[in-house]
Formats: sequence, C-alpha cells, structure tokens
Amino acid sequence: MEQKIFQIQKDYLEKIGKAQNLRQLDEIFLALFGKKGEITLLPKQFPGLEENELRKIGPLFNQVKQKLEIEIEIAREKVREENYKTLTSERFEAQPERLQAKIRKGHLHPVTQLLHETVNLFSKLGFEQFDAPHIDTDEYNFELLNMPEGHPARDLWDTLYIDSKKYGIQPGKLLLRTHTSNGQIRAMRQLKLPIRVMIIDRCFRYENLDVRHEHTLEQFEIVYIDKNVSMANLQYLSEYFFKGILGQDIKARLRPKYYPFVEPGAGVDGLCIFCKGKGCDVCGKTGWLELAGAGMIHPQVLKNGGIDPNEYSGIAWGVGPERMAMLRYGIEDIRLFKSGDLKFLEQFI
Ligand code: FA5
Repeated sequence: MEQKIFQIQKDYLEKIGKAQNLRQLDEIFLALFGKKGEITLLPKQFPGLEENELRKIGPLFNQVKQKLEIEIEIAREKVREENYKTLTSERFEAQPERLQAKIRKGHLHPVTQLLHETVNLFSKLGFEQFDAPHIDTDEYNFELLNMPEGHPARDLWDTLYIDSKKYGIQPGKLLLRTHTSNGQIRAMRQLKLPIRVMIIDRCFRYENLDVRHEHTLEQFEIVYIDKNVSMANLQYLSEYFFKGILGQDIKARLRPKYYPFVEPGAGVDGLCIFCKGKGCDVCGKTGWLELAGAGMIHPQVLKNGGIDPNEYSGIAWGVGPERMAMLRYGIEDIRLFKSGDLKFLEQFI
C-alpha cells in the first residue's frame, strides 16, 4: 500500500508538472479527487490492512493527499499568471469603420434641454437659481404657505409622507416636497430684497398616473418680489417664457385658480396641440393643457417670510416642464420621458 501511495504521488506530480492549461489541471484534479478518483477510492482498501500498517499508511495518505492538492493549486496559479502576461502583451487592432458604427452619441434628456433654455431665458432678466430640499417639513411645504394642519387645500396635493417616527419626528411632519413652492419662504428669509429667483427641481406626488400625470415631476418656479410688482408683470413674464420656449405662435391663457398662497391666483394653460382646442384625452377634453399655477404672493406669506406686504409685493409661478415638453415635441404621454426607452429619447439629439 505504501508503495502504491508513493507511485500515485510520483505519477501525478509528473502530470501536474506537464499540464499546460487549466482544463488539463481540472482533469488531473478529477482523476485524483473526483467521485471515482484514485485518492477518493484508496481509503476503501484500508479496512483490509493490519493495524501496524494502518498506523503508518493513514498519516502518509493524508500527507500525499494534501501535497497533491497544494501542487495542483500552485500549478493553476502559474497558468493564470502566464495567461495574464500573454493578455497584456497582446495587441488589439480596432477596425475604424466597425468601431464608428457602434459609437452612440450621448445627449441631454429633452426635459433637461428645455430647462437649460429656460434658465438661460430668465438669467437674462436677472433671475438667479435657488435650491430647496426634496425632503422637507410640512411647515415649508404647507404651513407657512397658508395651509395649517387640517386645511382642506392640502388635498390639492397627493402627498407622500416619510415614516419619521424612527427619527423621533412626529408622523406627518416630514414629507417629499409636492412642489417647488417649498423654496418660497426660504428665499424670502435668506435673500436680500428685491428677490428674483428660479427654483428648479424634482417634486413628488402620490398621483393616479395617466398621460399627463407623473409621480416624480420637474417644476420650474419663479419668485419675484419688489416694490410695485403686479399681475401685469406676471402676464408679461408668462408670455416671455412661453414664446421663448414654445415659439411665437403659442396660444396661452390665464384663468382664475385657487391656491392658498397667492391672491389672486391663476392657472396658465397652453392650447392643446393634439386636438387644436377641440378636446382629447391628452388635455382631459378641455382643449387646453395646464402648464402652470401662478399668482400674486399672499400678504400673509410675505409676512411669514419676514417681508412687509405694505411696502413690497410679489409674483410666483410654478410650471410643469414635462407638460411644456409635451407641447413642444408633440408627446402624447408624459410617462415616456422617464420610461428609459432609448428609442424614444434618441429622437431628441
Ligand atoms: C403647484 O404645484 C403650485 N405650487 C404652483 C404655484 C406656484 C402656484 C406659485 C402659485 C404660485 P400645481 O399642483 O397646479 O401647482 O402644479 C403646477 C404645474 O405642475 C401644473 O400646472 C402642471 O404643469 C405641473 N404638474 C402638476 N402635477 C403634475 C404631475 N403629476 N405630473 C406632471 N406635471 C404636473
């Protein structure tokens, strides 16, 4: 038996030494340690041995078994190293025509393009960008905007609340902001008068999704506070904006709309290009697509922001850039913008 074990060791060390690749080493491993491998089957003969011999053979067997395992692993490592060396010295000749065919040009998302143009338009008028948080308190999103707890107008926004108990914050006090208007009071408190800011970013709503409603939507908000600011400024800026983005032929209308933080309040609509005002599914059969909410900032909101409403007045508006993009590019379903569908997005290079 002793001789047999030494013979196995000798034969296989030779084989391991000659192996050129991982496949050959795997075969050697299986021939030794597989189900029917020589090392696997050998102990089945041990019960026939005398006790003296068994005492010698046991440790010898374990020693040889371990040695063969280690030698196989060392040989594997050597083969891998050599493969890596060959790889680094190999050269890859790219064929320029084939390479060109595969290059895809990246570009900005159509809504981002529209937002960049918007920022450009308003920067020319002296508006600066201002940031407000995505996760906010109900104080900035609602309370300081004339909507105390329990106010029915809060139902205008389907709000996503954060499970804040684990942070030691009373449930219902922390939320995903529903609109960029959460930046209004911050801008008033942080900036010097006169104020001309644009707040652009994502908002979140627990919406029933359809062709013109998304749960995650962009908003573009303007806050302009100075002496003698009036609805005429709002009318002028709306036209400046819509014509700048949608072209000179855009038909827009201002209609009365209630928002608790403005007085008077207005809804700004663009004529639905899909039905030319006749009424279809995209515009909800009204002939107009609502693009923005707007109005004169409520005196109480100015006060909440530390501004004297007897001296200053302001206008604000919040636009849905995706809705603008729908009109601009003739997109009938808002959900396409965030679908990640490259065939759709590649149209906007
Ligand atoms: C607001 O969010 C107000 N904060 C706007 C405002 C600002 C009013 C300042 C007065 C003063 P509203 O919920 O109507 O209002 O949304 C404003 C615009 O965002 C809409 O006109 C629409 O263009 C867009 N919008 C609203 N909900 C969605 C939605 N679920 N998906 C895509 N766009 C939306």
